[in-house]
Amino acid sequence: MTTRYYTPVDALLINLDQAVGTLFGRPAAASRPNPADSVPAAELPSDERRLAARLMRVNHSGEVCAQALYQGQALTARLEAVRDRMERAAVEENDHLAWCGARLQALDSHPSVLNPLFYAGSFAIGALAGKVGDRWSLGFVVETEHQVVEHLNSHLDRLPADDWQDRAILEQMKEDEARHATQALAAGGARLPLPVRLLMKGVAKVMTGTSYWL
Ligand SMILES: [Fe+2]
Ligand SMILES: [Fe+2]
Repeated sequence: MTTRYYTPVDALLINLDQAVGTLFGRPAAASRPNPADSVPAAELPSDERRLAARLMRVNHSGEVCAQALYQGQALTARLEAVRDRMERAAVEENDHLAWCGARLQALDSHPSVLNPLFYAGSFAIGALAGKVGDRWSLGFVVETEHQVVEHLNSHLDRLPADDWQDRAILEQMKEDEARHATQALAAGGARLPLPVRLLMKGVAKVMTGTSYWL
């Protein structure tokens, strides 16, 4: 079997295609059924419905960022095994993106208008993390996923109590993100320095705070 080598222009075009697909296309079909389909749909009062839509918009943007982070990291990762792992994780994140997108539609809402900005920023951060070295890049995944699990817990607290469908999605995402963290740690992820962890929290706060409204 021959190995295919991509020129920088090939890589650029592939990444652009992925970006446009993530932002404006229908996400590729999820590889697993949507957890929301396995629980009853609740009739939510309009204020609760609005709250659920806002929270799911934040989660959808988070998944757009996840796509971009993984694509950026995969672009610059040095070890073949790391690159492969990043690309596989990005495919799993695609399920999350598709599920959140479907819920936004069902709630008559829309994705964040800031997603192109989030994608570009996350792609750059991912590429930088990959460039710094695989141990750090994997450590970045560990920290990101830990923060995402924390964030998902806070959304599970805030979602309307009867919103079983969104709850089912977030519970499954939480399980997946925790597994991504464990796998990245097992693959040799380093613990990031405190200032970097705090900076990541700050950036995530800006993203979640703005996508809630816009
Ligand atoms: Fe995810
Ligand atoms: Fe993840």
